[in-house]
Amino acid sequence: SAPDRYAMVIFGVTGDLTHRLVIPALYNLAEAGLLPETFCVVGITRKEIASEELRASLMDGLKRFATRPVRQDVADKLLYCVTAISADPSDPPSFDRLRERLEKLEAARHTGGNRLFYLATPPDAFAPISSELGRAGLLREDQGAWRRLVVEKPFGTDLASAKALNAHLLGLVPEHELYRIDHYLGKETVQNILVMRFANGMFEPIWNRDHIDHVQITVAETLGVGHRGSFYDATGALRDMVPNHLFQLLSLVAMEPPSQFNAHAVRTAKSAVLSAIQIPSEHDALANSVRGQYSAGQIGDTTIEDYRKSRNVSPNSTTETYAALKLNIDNWRWAGVPFYLRTGKALGAKRTEVAIKFKQAPFAMFRCTPVQQLSQNYLVIGIEPAESISLQFNSKIPGPQIAIDGVEMTFRYKDYFKVAPSTGYETLIHDCMIGDNILFQRADAIEAGWAAVQPFLDGWRKAGADGLQIYPAGSNGPADADALLARDGRSWREPL
Ligand code: BG6
Repeated sequence: SAPDRYAMVIFGVTGDLTHRLVIPALYNLAEAGLLPETFCVVGITRKEIASEELRASLMDGLKRFATRPVRQDVADKLLYCVTAISADPSDPPSFDRLRERLEKLEAARHTGGNRLFYLATPPDAFAPISSELGRAGLLREDQGAWRRLVVEKPFGTDLASAKALNAHLLGLVPEHELYRIDHYLGKETVQNILVMRFANGMFEPIWNRDHIDHVQITVAETLGVGHRGSFYDATGALRDMVPNHLFQLLSLVAMEPPSQFNAHAVRTAKSAVLSAIQIPSEHDALANSVRGQYSAGQIGDTTIEDYRKSRNVSPNSTTETYAALKLNIDNWRWAGVPFYLRTGKALGAKRTEVAIKFKQAPFAMFRCTPVQQLSQNYLVIGIEPAESISLQFNSKIPGPQIAIDGVEMTFRYKDYFKVAPSTGYETLIHDCMIGDNILFQRADAIEAGWAAVQPFLDGWRKAGADGLQIYPAGSNGPADADALLARDGRSWREPL
């Protein structure tokens, strides 16, 4: 459906996220003609600044971070509609002034009173800003005009804080007007998991414990912690990646087929499978997980310094930069099918993928190759950088004798589709505008995700440095991550 006219009110407008992703995504939407004719951006700053100054800074950001050549006329039109207004949650009257100024601006720009509040801020600002928005009456629906609230990750730091944040936000805005962003859902390859599974008849009959041996989810990065030391050292790989990004992949792969493509049906199915993740005791969590921290190393031409020497990281830090977990899902489809998850920084390769390992052929008819030596049957969903889906199976090596080798049949997006490079935020922002919540996280799914990782967080916190393995930057991660699968007679599909 066509987007309604509205005002987009951005908190954190001077920050990195707005410059790097939000404005370039708005630009791409503008260029594609997907912004409403009547639209404006209100950038909230703590200190009073002139709108011209904000526009100039956003234009600089756009030139640096645009994913396509910038057309000056489109950029000018977009940035012409940016207004800076100052408001600071520690100064409540400033939010009353914000309401008055916004109402005037809405009247002048004819945005119909529809408001999208986008909190592109550090997470500790979510509660104070939303409280003030609520108190000053900015979130109250008025004459049919909608109010939407967008929050970025991280959503809480554990189960208790996520529940508290949900309770707080839901006290101000109904669930269907809350948009909790997980940028993984903006990726085409992630959205395509639903289409691959449910627009084709051939996968679903084998998508279960009878045919699938186990599932591997890998999100490996080559980058180290960079300049995000203070955030990352308090966060770690598990919190940063698992209950959000890896669980998005897990839930799309493991959910039951929804019967309708709408936010309620899809999100209910995703939440149901996340709630079915077996919650281990702390003892079992320790036994079924591996955590590591990188030391100095070389990745290609880049030298990565020891994590503990990074800026704003404690020299005695026990924060994990790598996490691997074995999870079970307690339902009829997945009982007995382990899900192995791994994610880490400063690894030997950048690779995000889901690998579905099918069961071996049950019987060795070909004497030349014992069944154990046959290549493994995998369906590999490449999310990044390989945007592909590939099926790995055994084939006869041409020749007079029977000899067998593994081969691969691969679909690559770029062979079929021409897509202009994007930020990954276009679909998400567009969906906020049209009021479609499918690609956003619902409160129950967020809480189910945190509940499943909580025993790992608790066990690791108590274990401190015990069990934290150091791996050199550029390597495959801690050796115990291989052992985690080897003890089940399995191995990761490929080293990193
Ligand atoms: C972010 C994390 O949410 O996701 C980062 O905070 C991480 O630490 C990033 O690097 C990974 O995203 P992507 O899209 O590069 O896989």
